[in-house]
Amino acid sequence: MCGIVGYTGDESAAPIILEGLSKLEYRGYDSAGMAVFNDKIQKIEIVKEKGRLQGLIEKTNAGNAMMGCCGIGHTRWATHGIPSQKNAHPHFSDDKMVVAVHNGIIENFHELKEYLQNKGYEFYSETDTETVTKLIDYYYKKTEHNPLESLSKALIRVRGSYALGIMFSDRPGVIYAARKDSPLIVGKNDGGKFIASDVPAILSRTRNVYYIDNMEMVELSGEEIKFYNIDGEEITKEQVTINWDAQSAEKGGYEHFMMKEIHEQPKVVKDTLQAFLKDGQIDLKDVGLNEEMMKSLKKLYIIACGSAYHVGVTAKYVIEDLTDVMVEVDLASEFRYRDPKIPEDSLVVIISQSGETADSLAALRMVKEKEINTLGIVNVVGSSIAREADYTMYTIAGPEIAVATTKAYSAQLICIYLLAIYMGRVKGSLEEKVCQDMLQEMMTLPDKIEKILTDKDRIQWFANKFASAKDMFFIGRGLDYAICLEGSLKMKEISYVHSEAYAAGELKHGTISLIEDGTLVVGLMTQTSLGEKTLSNMVEVKSRGAYLMGVTEYGNYNIENTVNFVVYVPKTDAHFTSSLAIIPLQLLGYYISVARGVDVDKPRNLAKSVTVE
Ligand code: F6R
Repeated sequence: MCGIVGYTGDESAAPIILEGLSKLEYRGYDSAGMAVFNDKIQKIEIVKEKGRLQGLIEKTNAGNAMMGCCGIGHTRWATHGIPSQKNAHPHFSDDKMVVAVHNGIIENFHELKEYLQNKGYEFYSETDTETVTKLIDYYYKKTEHNPLESLSKALIRVRGSYALGIMFSDRPGVIYAARKDSPLIVGKNDGGKFIASDVPAILSRTRNVYYIDNMEMVELSGEEIKFYNIDGEEITKEQVTINWDAQSAEKGGYEHFMMKEIHEQPKVVKDTLQAFLKDGQIDLKDVGLNEEMMKSLKKLYIIACGSAYHVGVTAKYVIEDLTDVMVEVDLASEFRYRDPKIPEDSLVVIISQSGETADSLAALRMVKEKEINTLGIVNVVGSSIAREADYTMYTIAGPEIAVATTKAYSAQLICIYLLAIYMGRVKGSLEEKVCQDMLQEMMTLPDKIEKILTDKDRIQWFANKFASAKDMFFIGRGLDYAICLEGSLKMKEISYVHSEAYAAGELKHGTISLIEDGTLVVGLMTQTSLGEKTLSNMVEVKSRGAYLMGVTEYGNYNIENTVNFVVYVPKTDAHFTSSLAIIPLQLLGYYISVARGVDVDKPRNLAKSVTVE
């Protein structure tokens, strides 16, 4: 994972780099570092610190201690070597001729390291980045200091993924960058040029960006930006204007990004819905999907990771109920290695907030090789999945900063409902009137989410009671089970409470032995036909000592005879309940995390964009 930022221009580089890195900490936050070319001494100075970015900010006096207008910085999520000052980036060649920051994994770094050791290079860290830096140095010297040729020669030998920012000590004011399978953008404003792993890092300074593609290189100087392919031939690239609101990447008065993003869900749901409606009808023309293709569609594959996979589980229930299309849902990390036999009349849907998740991207590429149509449901505009999928449906969630997803998940659900209704109408399994009623109901979801949010204090009160819980179980059937998967993930990832999601009927096949006095079991009961069965399973665990929390729709008040604490959500079409029932579970995870003193937005060991497999 990791985040990189670089700047060259008229202003002092270090404060700009630190500001950019602060927006990328979601990509990793176990150490950070910066390299700035100091014009006075004509040398590149490097400062690194273990731990959060704050350490580097303090060490460099908010960047003011580093003089110079050209530099690169990095915030790390350790892959090779423990988080330490030594392993932190930037890395450098023995004479500091080449200095580099890197996001990605160099798979053949052992082999390259050995090669360089035989040439006399010594190594000070355990990282793959040091190896690639020294490989560039090796070729830089061999090509008599030709930066593009040395990069090209080095990168052709590299297997794996990289977004690299590189400085050469005899080329003041110039930054080089290159990319393969890890995100990298270039930006420019009147005063300077930027490289970054993601848009929020430079959004306060420019909206004009270029997306760097695989096996491309860039040269940024004060005067110009030049793009090259890996053979060193100059290429042209189209500038893209980012429409995101810089404010929406800030906390806006909330204590944490996660809470802000939970509160943004009514708007995100509304915006995503409106993006695909025209004159009251679903319009997927901009996506590129056409009715002819949909009519012949027999099978849908949904591939994703983590929460996006949970959206896929919801999608299976919804789409199979509304259409005659069979749906298979797979974890991208499994799918990509199991050589699936995908029939011709299939569509493979890849769901991803970041659009850069390594396994999801690899799955997409594998499917494309089989010449099967692919649809990306993606949040980050211009990300790899968005660009490489045949069709792209953008979720209108804006930048999501908290590591645990909330609003992007909600926006992905909306895309799935729309897709299901569209397919149902086109393929004739849903009558026009039914589609219209469902769309009308979807339009009520933002207000219904808002209503649930007004009850958050009650959930906070309950969360405080269970802040010291050790284990939790989330149970439900059908779509309620899909909600459980996401509720349980929210709980464990941000509060560090062990939690499991179970199809309610499965519990008694082994897991029930874990129920002890006081174990919290959260039952989801939004599906009229299945709710009663889940309630029976809750009675079973209650009689073994469990404390019960229920989530159900207003009106099901008799549940209070069995369940200790009930949260009610407004009634909606049974297909859309995930959009409402997930809200109390997000809040429960959030408040337990806060009560336990966990860093909600940046829980340990995680990163927002998982660009390694
Ligand atoms: C959990 C979470 C992750 C992501 C997963 C996929 O809160 O955010 O499980 O859903 O890493 O990421 P994307 O959607 O970027 O492909």
